[in-house]
Amino acid sequence: MNAISRLATVISLASLLPLSAFPLSTLAADSKGSVEVVHWWTSGGEKAAVDVLKAQVEKDGFTWKDGAVAGGGGATAMTVLKSRAVAGNPPGVAQIKGPDIQEWASTGLLDTDVLKDAAKTEKWDSLLDKKVSDTVKYEGDYVAVPVNIHRVNWLWINPEVFKKAGIEKAPTTLQEFYAAGDKLKAAGFIALAHGGQPWQDSTVFEAVVLSVMGVDGYKKALVDLDNGALTGPEMVKALTELKKVATYMDADGKGQDWNLEAAKVINGKAGMQIMGDWAKSEWTAAKKVAGKDYECVAFPGTDKAFTYNIDSLAVFKQKDKGTAAAQQDIAKIVLGENFQKVFSINKGSIPVRIDMLSDMGKYGFDSCAQTAAKDFLADAKSGGLQPSMAHNMATTLAVQGAFFDVVTNFINDPKADPAIAAKQLGTAVKAAK
Ligand code: GAL
Repeated sequence: MNAISRLATVISLASLLPLSAFPLSTLAADSKGSVEVVHWWTSGGEKAAVDVLKAQVEKDGFTWKDGAVAGGGGATAMTVLKSRAVAGNPPGVAQIKGPDIQEWASTGLLDTDVLKDAAKTEKWDSLLDKKVSDTVKYEGDYVAVPVNIHRVNWLWINPEVFKKAGIEKAPTTLQEFYAAGDKLKAAGFIALAHGGQPWQDSTVFEAVVLSVMGVDGYKKALVDLDNGALTGPEMVKALTELKKVATYMDADGKGQDWNLEAAKVINGKAGMQIMGDWAKSEWTAAKKVAGKDYECVAFPGTDKAFTYNIDSLAVFKQKDKGTAAAQQDIAKIVLGENFQKVFSINKGSIPVRIDMLSDMGKYGFDSCAQTAAKDFLADAKSGGLQPSMAHNMATTLAVQGAFFDVVTNFINDPKADPAIAAKQLGTAVKAAK
């Protein structure tokens, strides 16, 4: 059974339960309507970002019911969302990404009408890159509003720690990365802050695949899911390098949240972290300045590529008119110029609006965000712009789960063999397709 019919089967049970069996949320007497928003933006920096949206929705007269579900990468939030849908009680709005938006839309639970007017009057089609708008449309209709764009293939560096360890510059090749890691270890630092959760393991895996196999190899293996690329000699090489990168990972990082690991770099206990630019939200919340207190560079060997991760808020069909009005309000706010600026500055991302991407300095974005926007536009032309597998942009959740299992087992098994792991990748992905 493919992923779409799998989700559809689960969700179809929802029709057995009447929506009215569930009480509407309590509404303040003067509220125009209430909306629950399910998301996983719970780290300090990310909460500051989502609070910008909440405050505006409330200012517009609606009641915001916060449906935050902790857990980086959103796996727990997605489990909660599925069970809510099965129970016939989906929230009005939920953070859903990439191909999963199509999967959810095909169950009939997403609303294909409610965003129509906003999309037309606000001219979303011309504000967004086609790659972005295609992701959030189902059969031509918007079923979600894109919020921001994250770059995933970053390396975050504490320059003060580098200095103490005698490292002169940010690594640009894997060899330089290993040399820096050795110096950091020798000086008593954690070389690579890393939380050993499956999505974090695969965030590192895909950066290494991109570095070793290049953009074409990355696309073939992680986007097209080509069996030859998944099991071939280049993948074996990538897995061999991944095992080496793993030797620099924080020994206390097993099961650790990404933001707690980011804190180790911020506080000068660790030298580096491989993480998408939501990591910047933690640096920003700690009042650190890009280019001065910390450095952001493309993961070694990937500076001509941009693995993207677009956060989107999908709208679920609701009976209540007030909720529909609140969904429309959220959509309008999200694509507004001011929100795009303030949210992304807090979140570490860049705007989804193309007019803003080409003029980042004007909005006060820092050097990391300016580099990200410049690279996004250049890589969109060169083909270097590729969807992140680890962040649900390239495949369905089922295929992503297959990658996660093999990669995390490989990193943790002291006897793991790269050639065997590459074969396992091929088999697991085939079964999940
Ligand atoms: C990503 C998401 C980001 C950030 C990150 C850590 O999947 O797109 O916005 O929340 O997970 O949780």
